[in-house]
Parts: sequence; C-alpha cells; structure tokens
Amino acid sequence: SMQKATNVVYHRPLVDRNVRGKVIGTGKFRGCTLWFTGLSGAGKTTLSFALEDYLIARGIPAFGLDGDNMRFGLNSDLGFTDADREENIRRVAEVAKLFAESGVVTLCSFVSPFRADRDRARKIHEDAGLPFLEIFVDAPLNVCETRDVKGLYKKARQGQIKNFTGIDSPYEKPLSAESTMRTGETSIIECTQKLVDLLVDRNVLP
Ligand code: PPS
Ligand code: ADP
Ligand code: MG
Repeated sequence: SMQKATNVVYHRPLVDRNVRGKVIGTGKFRGCTLWFTGLSGAGKTTLSFALEDYLIARGIPAFGLDGDNMRFGLNSDLGFTDADREENIRRVAEVAKLFAESGVVTLCSFVSPFRADRDRARKIHEDAGLPFLEIFVDAPLNVCETRDVKGLYKKARQGQIKNFTGIDSPYEKPLSAESTMRTGETSIIECTQKLVDLLVDRNVLP
C-alpha cells in the first residue's frame, strides 16, 4: 500500500559529534544506547528508570524509552503480533540511535523477544559508530509470573490476552549480552551499581 520514498539524499551535519557532546553533555560525547530485554515483569522498566535517575542526578544527559510508554505515541498503531513487535523494535532502534547521536545515554526497555530484531537494533547503532550495550534482564518465568506487576500473566493464563511473551509467544534469550541482571536473586540497588560499573568500564562514565 505505502510507497517507498525515492529521490532522497542524505545530508551530513556540519556539527562534529565531539563538539555536540561538549555542549549537550558534560565535557565529552557520551552518546550510547543500553538495550534492556527480558520477560514482562523481569525488571526492565525498574532498572532503566533507576539508571536514568542516577545519571540525571549526576548531570549526565539520559533518557528512558519504554515499551509501554512508546505504545501510547509513536507506536500506538502496533499490537503484539510477531510482525508488529518487529516494527516496534525497528522504530525504537532508529529513535534510540538519534537520541544517542545527540549525545544522550539512551535507555531502551522493551521485551524485544526476537534475537534478529535486537541484532538489527545493534547493527543500526554500530554502523553509526555508537556503543550499543545489550542488558539481559533475566528472571525466570515463575518469578515474573509471581510478581505479576500488572496482572497481565493472570489474564494471559485465562486466555484474555493472546500472544503473551513467555506464555503463548516466544522469548529468545540473548546469546552475547554485554551484561546480565539476575533480578530474581539480586537487589535493584546491586543491579543499578552493576550497570554503573559497566558504563565506567566502557568509558561512558568517569
Ligand atoms: S515488544 O515485544 O518489545 O514489542 O513489547 P514492548 O513494546 O516492550 O511492550 C511490552 C509491554 O506491553 C504490555 N503487554 C505485553 N507484553 C508482552 N506480550 C503481550 N502480548 C503484551 N500485551 C501487553 C506489557 O505491559 C509489556 O511491558 P513490560 O514492561 O514488559 O511488562
Ligand atoms: P518489566 O518492565 O521488565 O516488565 P518492571 O520493572 O515493571 O518489569 O517490574 C519488575 C518488578 O520486580 C518490580 O515490582 C520491581 O520492584 C521488582 N524487582 C525486584 N528485584 C528487582 C531487581 N533486581 N531489578 C528490577 N526489578 C526488581
Ligand atoms: Mg516495563
């Protein structure tokens, strides 16, 4: 139905990434994306928002893009079929790349159950020379289901929600995440510290 655009050209900006980083960031360019993936209830939103709060409190530009939230706006036309999830992740990956390019530490929290979609998000960043750190928020299904933060597992078990990740829709675990958070056995504070350590190790934080 939709026609692809033709006759478009790419315009390179005059502004250098490092100069942009000095203006927008704190002395140097820190733009990058942390990609939190995991089952519903694993702790993606909690950890990404905790890290956003930590970074902002220290004057470091950071912004959280969250699956639930994005589905109120940019992705309000998408549901939870495999194809809609793929398009969801494609759009968010492009948005995250732009945030990262602008000098922001971008924190994406999406179930993102398909390895190919996450790998594409990574490629979009790496092709642009932007660090991409995949964070596997790893809690067993029974822990997530016991938490049932939003009552969605109960609904999924009752058949009121179809294609629910972990119940009747697959989750493909990361094979080479930069870090894994075992939230069933590690506190929020410990996980947040581990994320900060990772950012120091990757020269994002001083
Ligand atoms: S995805 O798979 O990456 O496109 O999903 P995402 O954009 O992160 O949206 C997941 C949130 O939507 C709610 N929700 C569902 N999750 C999984 N499967 C189904 N069928 C579903 N229906 C609604 C739920 O609140 C998810 O958020 P989290 O934070 O993971 O619980
Ligand atoms: P998701 O966004 O992955 O669906 P949420 O962040 O909404 O998950 O919910 C995770 C739940 O687990 C919250 O109630 C949170 O308090 C709890 N929790 C317990 N330990 C942790 C931890 N180490 N990291 C993140 N969340 C945790
Ligand atoms: Mg969430």
